[in-house]
Amino acid sequence: MQPLPGFRDFLPDDCAVRNLIFARWREVARRYAFVEWDGPPLEATELYRKKSGTEIVDQLFNFTDKGEREVAMRPELTPTLARVVAAHEREFKKPLKWFSIGQFFRYEKQQRGRLREHFQLNCDVIGEANLAADIELVALCIDILRAFGFTDKDFVVRVSDRDFWTNFLREKDISGDRWDELLQAIDKFGREPREKTVEKLGKLADPVFAILKSGGKSERLDRLVDGLRARGLADFVSIDVGIVRGLAYYTGMVFEVFDRAAKFRAIAGGGRYDNLIGVLSDGAVSMPALGFAMGDVVLGELINETAHVREKLENSIANSRKIDIYVVIAKEQCRADALGQIQQLRDRGYLVDYPLTSEKVGKQFQLAEQLGARVAVLFGDEWPQLKLKDMSSGEQQLVSKDDFMSHVETILR
Ligand code: HAM
Repeated sequence: MQPLPGFRDFLPDDCAVRNLIFARWREVARRYAFVEWDGPPLEATELYRKKSGTEIVDQLFNFTDKGEREVAMRPELTPTLARVVAAHEREFKKPLKWFSIGQFFRYEKQQRGRLREHFQLNCDVIGEANLAADIELVALCIDILRAFGFTDKDFVVRVSDRDFWTNFLREKDISGDRWDELLQAIDKFGREPREKTVEKLGKLADPVFAILKSGGKSERLDRLVDGLRARGLADFVSIDVGIVRGLAYYTGMVFEVFDRAAKFRAIAGGGRYDNLIGVLSDGAVSMPALGFAMGDVVLGELINETAHVREKLENSIANSRKIDIYVVIAKEQCRADALGQIQQLRDRGYLVDYPLTSEKVGKQFQLAEQLGARVAVLFGDEWPQLKLKDMSSGEQQLVSKDDFMSHVETILR
């Protein structure tokens, strides 16, 4: 039996990597004073139909539940966030700075960097229209990747502005109901055959290609880069009007993060969605908002490819796996006493292991070594005295069972 296509089993090594990714995400989001929240993994399908855009609605894992409700496994968090904020808006002081780590589901064609489930870190700021929030958000995204050890040689944040394109469409007298479809076509430029983009854009194809080639100008983006320069982060960003984002709700600044070699798909993406809360609450609550999500799949691929980051991560995992104490049971008659001491050690918070069944003493010391134990404690003929071995220096001492705890504490301090 295999897992379903696009779904993963997380064996202990994979889980260790995942936990480390989550820990870094959480750590840096907290550094920026974001607070953690979460929503449900299942939502009404309608929530996504309203504003996520056709691409994501086509990829929904949706079904009719036993109460005849049309429901979908969440493909992203932003619509849930907008729903929750609209419902609880009065309970919080603005701006809200919220982050969340969770699993998401999209029925995509499985390919490199794209699965049918993945984990995302979402970071969003609600209730702040000032560009200062955009700068803070992009800086947070950069700092998260820096916390893994990535440098400006490894990744780049490509920033753009949707207004740039909506102004262009307005100038060309294109009616609003065609914008989503045209923006998606521009977004896919470079990932789809050129003829397909030409077919979708029609008479707009030539001017769009000309803009993509020349780069386009945006005063707002220049100020955003200046803000990052003031923090010493300008080398991590570049202005690229080719970034439009596939989701329909974005309104202003948008960005995506890519590896410098452009080998992988986007590591993260986000932007402003100033109208979404208003649309989802039928105008009851209106608040500017912006955010981004970083996925674990592409990030994991980039970590694997980047030797200096991978080594750092492997070392952290190896260290996090080490135990404090291995209890060697040399005489089975001592097992009950040993278990009494093990219980006390664990109550004090130490990481302790021991053989569940009778095992040769040599084998037990070998295991202590493999588990990275800093101390081995031997229960044997010497009882009620114990043999303590400092595993790094190899020093051994005989201690009474009453003094044992303070000796362990001294070695492990
Ligand atoms: P998104 O660009 O759809 O944005 O997803 C964000 C990131 O999640 C992507 O850059 C990618 O790394 C990862 N990702 C997405 N789909 C998959 C997949 N099928 N397999 C593996 N990884 C995937 C959003 O979801 C927005 N809601 C982000 C946002 C938050 N905007 C504002 N706030």
